[in-house]
Formats: sequence, structure tokens, C-alpha cells
Amino acid sequence: MSAKIIAVVNQKGGAGKTTLTMLLAGSLADRGKRVLVADADAQNTAVHWSSMGASAGIAFPAEVEDVSGEENKLHKALRKRADDFDYIVIDSPPAATAPVTASALRAAHLALVPVIPSPLDLWASVRIREAIILARHKNPDLEARLVVNQMQPNTVLAREVLGMLPEFGIPMLAASLKSRTAYRQCAALGGSILSLGNRAALAVMEVDALRREIEGLLRGR
Ligand SMILES: Nc1ncnc2c1ncn2[C@@H]1O[C@H](COP(=O)(O)OP(=O)(O)OP(=O)(O)O)[C@@H](O)[C@H]1O
Ligand SMILES: [Mg+2]
Repeated sequence: MSAKIIAVVNQKGGAGKTTLTMLLAGSLADRGKRVLVADADAQNTAVHWSSMGASAGIAFPAEVEDVSGEENKLHKALRKRADDFDYIVIDSPPAATAPVTASALRAAHLALVPVIPSPLDLWASVRIREAIILARHKNPDLEARLVVNQMQPNTVLAREVLGMLPEFGIPMLAASLKSRTAYRQCAALGGSILSLGNRAALAVMEVDALRREIEGLLRGR
């Protein structure tokens, strides 16, 4: 079976692309899947995350590789690796029109767009929708989902912004990520969310729900 490829994309910097990539890839790998994180962002934040645990003996459970130099050939490079993995999760730079983003969207079965529920973030994310529509010329079966990140439930603003999301034109994943210290700690420790142990039980449940929904979306692809 060839790998299912997920591209985590957004024009907006700081929306949570790397966090979503690493939480999802870590969770899939903790469940025994063979996972490659393809770090397509020249900032190499995913690579840094995975190297953070070395001194403390914490190993990130998925393979993480810098692919930012592949530029517009990323889809070809990933095709060659597809038989070695169950999932490839691509972390991309905050640049909707960058060649590497276009190439990631060309390779992907599913594009995930993390969005912070604030009007400024949402406006800044509009160009990624255009990039996804463009990518479908060469990759017509590309699915896309918004993933609400840093969710603050029960606030008026969150409700108002969530009400705006259907206008965005990309369906929303039912699962979302709340704003949690555990996710920042996870990056600092260099592991998956399971590496935080019992203190992160709520975060583990949240990431599990996200992983299950995405596995379901990709079943049969
Ligand atoms: N759900 C969350 N809870 C708490 N902190 C979060 C959450 N999501 C992201 N963060 C924090 O917000 C910051 C930006 O997140 P992240 O680096 O994942 O965004 P990004 O979209 O990859 O940014 P860039 O565009 O620079 O690559 C980081 O400090 C991260 O730890
Ligand atoms: Mg990033």
C-alpha cells in the first residue's frame, strides 16, 4: 500500500501548521503506523522539534526529513518514498504561492488548513483556498479541511468566527485543537503528545480524536 499523503498548509504564519503536523504524525506513529514528516519549510521547525528530545532520551516516533530544497519537485520526491510509509505528513512554509507548497498540494490526498478563530487570521488565510483550487487542476481528488486551532470554546468571538468559517469554502474538521500548554511543552520536549504522560490526558484525547477523524477521511484512498 502506498502512503497516504497529508499536506498541512496555510498562508498565515503561526496558524499551527508545524504543531498540527507533529501532533498528527506523532499520534499515527505511536499507533504503529510508518510515518514520514516531510519538512518543506526552510525554517525547519519540524526537524528542530524532532531533535529536541535527543539529550533527554526522548525520540520522536516518526521519521522527520528536511525536504525544503525539493521546491517544485517535492511531489516527485515523495512519490519515490511512498511505498516505505503508511502516511507522509508535509509541513509547509507560510507561503500559499511558493513552488514547494504547490508541489505539496499536488502530491497530497488531503490538505489540512489550521486556522486560529480570529478574523485577522481568517482573512490572511484566503489565498490558501485559491492555491488548493489551483492544485486540483493537476490533482482533482485533493480533499481539504479546515482545522480550528487554539480554540477557545464558549467565547463570543469564537462563536462569531466559527460562524464565518462556512463562507471560507473548505469544509471544517469536526475535531479541533484547544489552546493548551501541553502542545508547547510537547515541542520543547521533542516528543509526541504521549511522551508527556498522564499530565496531558486531555490533550492526548483531543489529538486522538483528530487522528481518528483523519484516518477515517483517508480510508480507501
Ligand atoms: N493549540 C495550541 N495550543 C498552544 N500553543 C499553540 C497551539 N498551536 C500552536 N501553538 C503555538 O503557537 C506558535 C505557532 O505555532 P506553529 O509553529 O505550529 O505555527 P506555524 O503555522 O507552523 O508557524 P510558521 O508559519 O512560522 O511555520 C508556536 O509557539 C506553538 O507552540
Ligand atoms: Mg511552521
